[in-house]
Amino acid sequence: MSAQQATSAKAAGGESSAVLEVSGLIKRYGDFTAVNAISFQISAGEIFGLLGPNGAGKTTTISVIATLLKAGGGSVSVSGHNARDDSMAVRKLIGLVPQDIGLYLRFSAWANLEFFGNLYGLWGRPLRQRIEEVLEIVGLTGSAKKPIVTKFSGGMKRRLNLAAGLLHKPRLLLLDEPTVGVDPQSRNRIFENITSLAKDDGTAILYTTHYVEEAEALCDRVAIIDGGEIVVCDEVPKLLAQMPGVAFTVELAEESVAFEASVAKQPGVSEITRVDGNGYRVVAEDQEQGLAALLATAREHQVTLAGLDIAKPNLEQLFLRLTGKALRD
Ligand SMILES: Nc1ncnc2c1ncn2[C@@H]1O[C@H](COP(=O)(O)OP(=O)(O)OP(=O)(O)O)[C@@H](O)[C@H]1O
Ligand SMILES: [Mg+2]
Repeated sequence: MSAQQATSAKAAGGESSAVLEVSGLIKRYGDFTAVNAISFQISAGEIFGLLGPNGAGKTTTISVIATLLKAGGGSVSVSGHNARDDSMAVRKLIGLVPQDIGLYLRFSAWANLEFFGNLYGLWGRPLRQRIEEVLEIVGLTGSAKKPIVTKFSGGMKRRLNLAAGLLHKPRLLLLDEPTVGVDPQSRNRIFENITSLAKDDGTAILYTTHYVEEAEALCDRVAIIDGGEIVVCDEVPKLLAQMPGVAFTVELAEESVAFEASVAKQPGVSEITRVDGNGYRVVAEDQEQGLAALLATAREHQVTLAGLDIAKPNLEQLFLRLTGKALRD
């Protein structure tokens, strides 16, 4: 066993259910550090989300795990196999669904799946059977023999991309923003597929996204990544519990200089920040206190509320609070 494997086995510390173990992973492009010492683990049957804005380092992380890029430091191991020393073993254990659709658009869905199956070492009858299974999983059975994939919708191409990653029944599935450009129906279908792969088959899933709604709805645990670093990582309910109270977005019909200072002094109000125009973002301990504070202040200063929106805490607000930036520009 190499020193690196020994370290990685030790870091796993007998947690044999960890399918993926990423430890202190660093990746640089020249002088630029795209991934800066990140660590996380994913267990069998777990859906783990990597949530972050453009350029956060999600695809780079996935590419190192998939052995397409070499780490500049730290380690990645999949079911105990080190990605650097044992990349062939790792490749057999993972399914990669890349961010950019990797299909041969001039061939049928069936021919694409045969091609990818051959790459995974599957041939003949077992391959044909498995192609039928994965087509069924992603709901493309009826379209498999259509002459060319070019005529598929964006959602169908994404689902075929997913099917290609499932052919060899991977223990770890790497999904890089698999729902971008997908219609809601296909997206729901992809969500159902992912959930069933995790919960019924025990597949460990790494899911990258910049959509908070997706991370909250789908993932058991989420790591928020920004500038190549994990800002926070926990179960979704625990992350949401870090956010205080309720957030309001309020729009005044006309400018009022005194409004902001006055709301800030009201009981139960913890934050008020100006957003665009005459809008404010207000965080209060609970909904009732927040509403009371806004209405009382509006009455006191004789300003009309032109708009009022109440939002339960979400990961978007947590991201804003932790990084001072919006998740989406
Ligand atoms: N081949 C490369 N050479 C130099 N810099 C790169 C390369 N690939 C990525 N980067 C940079 O590394 C950072 C992380 O990129 P990465 O693609 O991992 O981000 P991402 O989180 O996947 O973003 P997106 O949501 O846009 O897909 C970015 O600043 C990007 O510009
Ligand atoms: Mg990416």
